[in-house]
Amino acid sequence: MKRFAWLLLFATPAIAGDIPLSERRSGFDFMTAETQAMQRDDTLNPGMLWVLEGEALWRQSSQAGNKPCASCHGEGSMQGVAARYPAYDEKTQQPIDLAGRINRCRSENQGQAIYAPESRPLLSLSAYIGQQSRGLVVAPPEDPRLTPFIERGKAAFERRIGQLNFSCAQCHDQNWGQKLGGSPIPQGHANGYPIYRLEWQGLGSLQRRLRNCMIGVRAEPHAFGAPELVELELYLAQRAKGMAVEIPAVRP
Ligand code: HEC
Ligand code: HEC
Repeated sequence: MKRFAWLLLFATPAIAGDIPLSERRSGFDFMTAETQAMQRDDTLNPGMLWVLEGEALWRQSSQAGNKPCASCHGEGSMQGVAARYPAYDEKTQQPIDLAGRINRCRSENQGQAIYAPESRPLLSLSAYIGQQSRGLVVAPPEDPRLTPFIERGKAAFERRIGQLNFSCAQCHDQNWGQKLGGSPIPQGHANGYPIYRLEWQGLGSLQRRLRNCMIGVRAEPHAFGAPELVELELYLAQRAKGMAVEIPAVRP
C-alpha cells in the first residue's frame, strides 16, 4: 500500500473522539455509484456466492457424519446474531468474535478440526450468518464484563503505530473524507464484514481489513485471532452502534 506514504500531507486537526451518530457514514457512502450498485443488487454482489455456499454448508453433515449446523440451529435462526458480536464468552472469560463462535461449534458440537482463518468455509458461514442481520442495526451487547476489553480496543485505536507513526483515529476520526493517494478515507466502520473487496478479488474478514491498515502504516500486524484484533473489533462495534448492517458489503 504505497499510497499510505501520502500521509505526511495531512494537516491533522486537533479534534479527536467519536463521530456522533448523525455524522456517521458507512464506507458505502464513499464508493462510486457503480460499486454501490454492485453491493445493493444481490444478483451483482459477488459476496452472495459465499452466502449461498454458507447456506449449503449449514445444512451439510460432515464427512464423519456429524450433525449439520442446521440440525441444532434450524433454518434462518441466526437473525440478529452478527449484529451483536463480538460477545462475552463465559467459558474463556474473554470476548469472542463470530468467526471464533462458529469455530467453537465446529470443534465442540461437530467434533471437527476448526476452520483456518480466512478459509473459504469459515468466510462462507460468516457471510451466511451475517447476511441474516442485514438491515438490522449494529447492536453490541450491553455487558459490563466487556468494558475493559472495549477500553483496550479504544486505546489501541488511538495509539500511534508503525514506521509512519499513525493511529487509526488520525485517519478514521480526524481525516475521514480526505483523499489518500486518490481514494477517500472512510470513517472505518465495521458494519459490512465479511466484505467482498474488489482489490482482493474475494471475500475477506474484518481482521484481514484491520491487518491491511496496520501494514499500511508499516506496523507489524497482529496474527489472525489475536486478542488485540478482537478488542479492536469490539471497539469498532461500539463505534458503529446504531448503523445498519450491510453484510456482505462490497468495497473497492
Ligand atoms: C493512514 C490512514 C489510515 C490508518 C492509520 C488506518 N486506516 Fe483504516 N483505512 C484507511 C483507508 C484509506 C481505508 C479504505 C480502504 C483503502 O483504500 O485501503 C481504510 C479502511 C478501513 C476499514 C474498512 C471500512 C469499510 O467501510 O469497510 C476499517 C474497519 C478500518 N480501516 C479500520 C482501521 C483501524 C482499526 C486502524 C488502526 C489499526 C486503521 N484503520 C488505520 C486508512 C487508514
Ligand atoms: C450439536 C448441536 C450444535 C451443532 C451441530 C452446532 N451448534 Fe452452534 N450452538 C449450539 C449451542 C448449544 C449453542 C449455544 C446456544 C446459546 O448460547 O444460546 C450454539 C451457538 C452458536 C452460535 C452463537 C449464537 C448466539 O446467539 O450467540 C453460532 C453463531 C453458532 N452456534 C453457529 C454454528 C455453526 C456455524 C454450526 C455448524 C458449523 C453450528 N453452530 C453447529 C449447538 C450446536
